[in-house]
Formats: sequence, C-alpha cells, structure tokens
Amino acid sequence: MVERDSFGTRLGVLAAAAGSAIGLGNIWRFPYILGKNGGGAFLIIYLICIVIIGIPIMISEFIIGRSTKKNAIGAFKKLAPKTPWSIIGWMGLLSAIAVLSFYGVVAGWCMNYVVSTATNTFIGKTAQDMTNIFTSFTSSTWSPILWQLLFMFITGYIVVSGIKDGIEKYSKILMPVLLILIIILDIRALTLDRANEGLKFLFEPNFNQLTLNGVFIALGHAFFSLSIGMGTMLTYGSYINDSENLKSTALKVCIADTVIAILAGLAIFPAVFAYGIKPDTGAGLAFMSLPLVFQQMPLGNLFGALFFILLTVAALTSSISILEVIVAYFTEEYNFSRTKITIWGASFVSIIGIICSLSNGVLKKYTIFNMNFMDLMNYLSANILLPLGGLLISIFVGYYMDKKIIITQLYNNGTLSNKSISLFMFLVKIVSPIAIIFVFLKGIKII
Ligand code: PHE
Repeated sequence: MVERDSFGTRLGVLAAAAGSAIGLGNIWRFPYILGKNGGGAFLIIYLICIVIIGIPIMISEFIIGRSTKKNAIGAFKKLAPKTPWSIIGWMGLLSAIAVLSFYGVVAGWCMNYVVSTATNTFIGKTAQDMTNIFTSFTSSTWSPILWQLLFMFITGYIVVSGIKDGIEKYSKILMPVLLILIIILDIRALTLDRANEGLKFLFEPNFNQLTLNGVFIALGHAFFSLSIGMGTMLTYGSYINDSENLKSTALKVCIADTVIAILAGLAIFPAVFAYGIKPDTGAGLAFMSLPLVFQQMPLGNLFGALFFILLTVAALTSSISILEVIVAYFTEEYNFSRTKITIWGASFVSIIGIICSLSNGVLKKYTIFNMNFMDLMNYLSANILLPLGGLLISIFVGYYMDKKIIITQLYNNGTLSNKSISLFMFLVKIVSPIAIIFVFLKGIKII
C-alpha cells in the first residue's frame, strides 16, 4: 500500500486550509448577500455564527479527519462502524457536487472578466451597459461554458498532482498574492470620494433591515465561507500531521477568512457608493459594478484585471478542496487511481455545471421554488446541506465520539495545554446544535 500523502509544513497546512475557506464565498458571495440583507447588522450576525458555530465545527472536522486519517465517508465508517453516521459523509459528497457545479460557473465568469477588463472592453460604459453586458454574457450559451470547463480543467490538473506537490505548493504561492492584491484594491477604494458611505453601510448596524431570513442566510454563508459541513476540512484534517495544533490552525483559518471577507467588503462598498450603484444588486454585484468603477479610475484596467485574477485565484484554492472530497473518497474506498477519478469527478461535476450555466440562459424558464437551477444549487448547498451536515457533525463529536479521542486530538497526547476542553465541548454539545436547529427551523418557516 502506498504511504498516505500529507501536508509537508505548518505553513502549507494553513495555506491550504485558508485557501479552501477563502474563495468566491468571501469576495463574490459575501458582499452581495450582505448588500441584499441590509449591511452592518448582517455582518454582526455573521460574525456571531463564525464564533459560536464555525470555529467549533471546523475543529470538530479536523478532529474527525486527523484521528481517522480517512476521507469524509471512510472516517465515519471507522469511528462508528455499522451505524448510519456515514450519512454525514454521503451528504458531504452530495454538497461537494452541488457546490462545485455552480462554483465552476462563477469562477469561469471571473476568468472571462480578467480578459475583458485587461483588454479595455468596459471603457466608457455606463452602469446600464454593465448590467446588459453581464446579463448577456451569463445568459449566452457557449462562452460561459467554455470558461467554466477551462476552470474545471485547471482544478483537476492541480488535484491530480496530489497533496504536497499540488494543493500545498499552489496554495502557498497563491494565497499571499491574493492578500497583497486585495490590500491594493482597498487602498484605492477607500480613497474614493464617497468612500465613507460604503463604510457606514458595512459597519453601521441597522437591525430594522435584518429579517429572520437574513439570519438564516448568514448562518448558511458562515458554513459556505469556512468550507465546513461537507467534509472538506475533515478531508484536509486527515492530511495534517499529528504534531500540529488543531485549535490554533482552525482559529487562524477562521480569522483569515473573516478578515478577507471584510477586506473584500472594504474594496467593494466604498466603490459601490462612490459610483451610485445599488448595494442590493444581487449575484451580479461584483461583475456589474466593479468593472465600471475600475474603468472610471486611473489605471482602471490594471486594477480591474488584478481584481478578477484575485477572484480566480481564490476560487481555485477552494475548488481544489471541494474536488478533493470526491477524489479522496473514491481513491481510498475503491482504490481508483487519482488521475482517473479526478477526470471522472471533474467531468461529472462539469456536466451539472453546464446545466447551471444554461439555467441563466436557454433553460431560464425551468424553475423550482422560484429559482433557476443554478440558484437552487447555491441555495440548497449553502443554506440546507452544509448547516445540516454541520449540525450532525457537532452532535457526532458532542455526544457519540469517544471523548478520549477528542482529548488526544485537541491536546496532541497531552503536549498542549488543556484549558479549553470544556468550552469546546459546551459549544459543540449545546450552543452549535441549538443555534443551528433554531435558525434552521425559523429559516424554513417551520416555527
Ligand atoms: N469556502 C469556499 C469559499 O468561500 C467555498 C467552499 C464551500 C469550499 C464549501 C469548500 C467547501 O469560496
């Protein structure tokens, strides 16, 4: 049997896990849903979800992954043989397929916008023109599909290269570049004329604007943005060496993810207000408004192209972690070759992605619950499957799993201090499950 791959260095672990968390969720999804849900108050609820639910569940996934050194389904089969707990892994596999299908489409849009911005396509355009360009591009048949397939190809290429030589190597290079690019964008945005209106929108809580549905959306987004609830962090956890401190890794990843989301907000909202664009524009917010903003700035095409490169890079370090959930399962449980299953997995997801892409155009008229297919995948994964997966994970760790394993994993066999065990157990046993169940039942309007 071949030796199991693992992350090579501490920085590599952090870069890969933070790379998974930081993605389109932070830069494309977070600003548009914050814009739709009233701004500052939404941010506060989101931050609460990260602290009381996100951090403990990420640690839980790391514990399950590292203690079993297995994939999302294999881990539960090992810890709880002959019980239905492996359903968590199966749901994770389903979520991975759903998330990656629309993720590839949006990442494809980003790649297209890199080229359009760099080649000055948007010069002299009005806000209305930008809306038309976005709508006609995303609803066209071939172009978005070709970009999506290119993105999925690159994702597959990195995943085939394996953990140390693929995911870790690329994450280590790509993540610092991302941070530098976004800080440059922030400086530019914050020195725009009406920047303070954007700051107000982002940071001034107005609880009248927040609905129960907004709380539900914030919870789902916390799961999406932290890559938890579907076994991604579990799978990455299985590649983490026994000497790493799981708590501090999770804490750092959650902080990095939150900081990047806020930095993205700081780049987008001042600009949105400076140029009179509506913050509740929806999923097209970044694509409709920013190129226009960039074109009205000195060196706009450069800033614009940098921004969309940044989005693509961020998307790539996330998409490889999603595909890895699928690949790890099939290589470990069925002995498939890594290359073969990556090709099969990426192709299968791409086909569903093509349906997502077409649902913005020729298949637009087919809706379920008033959503086109792509919105449905987005909603179903982030707001239903991931929180449900997270709920089951916290119950599993809180009530089922052997406490000895948890302690060993948290304190690396007693080499780390054990002060926070009771806080952790309190969060996974009581706080997270109750909060998720409550928000969930309210969100889907059962209570
Ligand atoms: N967290 C990623 C992002 O913010 C998306 C993702 C979701 C990745 C679920 C893995 C699992 O873009």
